[in-house]
Amino acid sequence: MSASVDLTITPLSTHTGVEIRGIDLSRPVDPALAARLNRAFVDHAVLVFRDQHLTAPEMLAAVRLFGEVFPQHNTRFALPDCPLIHYISNQDRFPDGRRYIPGEGWHTDHSNDAMPPKATVLHAVTLPDRGGDTEFANLQQAWAALDPATRQRIDGLQAVHVYQSSHSARKLMGLAPDARAAVPAAVVHPIVRTHPENGRKGLYINPIRIESIPGMEEPEALALLDTLLDHATQPAFVYRHRWQAGDLAMWDNRCLLHKANGDYDMAQTRYLYRVMLKGDAPV
Ligand code: SIN
Repeated sequence: MSASVDLTITPLSTHTGVEIRGIDLSRPVDPALAARLNRAFVDHAVLVFRDQHLTAPEMLAAVRLFGEVFPQHNTRFALPDCPLIHYISNQDRFPDGRRYIPGEGWHTDHSNDAMPPKATVLHAVTLPDRGGDTEFANLQQAWAALDPATRQRIDGLQAVHVYQSSHSARKLMGLAPDARAAVPAAVVHPIVRTHPENGRKGLYINPIRIESIPGMEEPEALALLDTLLDHATQPAFVYRHRWQAGDLAMWDNRCLLHKANGDYDMAQTRYLYRVMLKGDAPV
């Protein structure tokens, strides 16, 4: 029997995200409902399913309603019993002992891949009492609000994306040795992309991955990227997700930046399951 009971879809902000209630993702979902959910994803960019209590295999089955799983580059965080699901935790440390907060700082996931994941999905397992929100900046809204001269200047520009940009303030955990060979050295993507499913244009920038803009001197490129980032992450374009127990949130990496906030009591655990879904080459 279908998982649908009494579905409600409620906006979470004026521009990004909807909350979905009345569905249990551990149960089968019929094709009409799956199509409705996929449409909501394309239209709203963030879906937050409340009150889910999924095991890792159940989460894997549920996300397949939206596409195929994208194997994450860094296998270091794979769950041993369900390796396509990874974890996000504030309890890991860099080799030098510093705490590692995954996802801090604005970024879009795995843009250093030739075909970056269209979506990332997190399911809250353990949350701190307060804080640890995830923020989302809508890059289509940002594009639409740019002045015509800047639009003309950047439309058609490309950027080189690498695993870890030498300009990034945020340092990533090193790749697991078995993962290094599979990760491209560098890929080139447009700075303005058109969403393959809703046809809207948006910025496609990533401060932790972009190394350079071909044909532009480094100081000019970095200044331009900083300006675009400041523009895109102004409060008018940001939805801030305050996690609740049982949330399963998925977002569209093709039109959003996101960042985790490491602003909570680190004596408390923040632990979520994470999986990504395959996407297309940005154009
Ligand atoms: C991520 O960047 O994938 C993680 C975001 C979060 O932990 O809130």
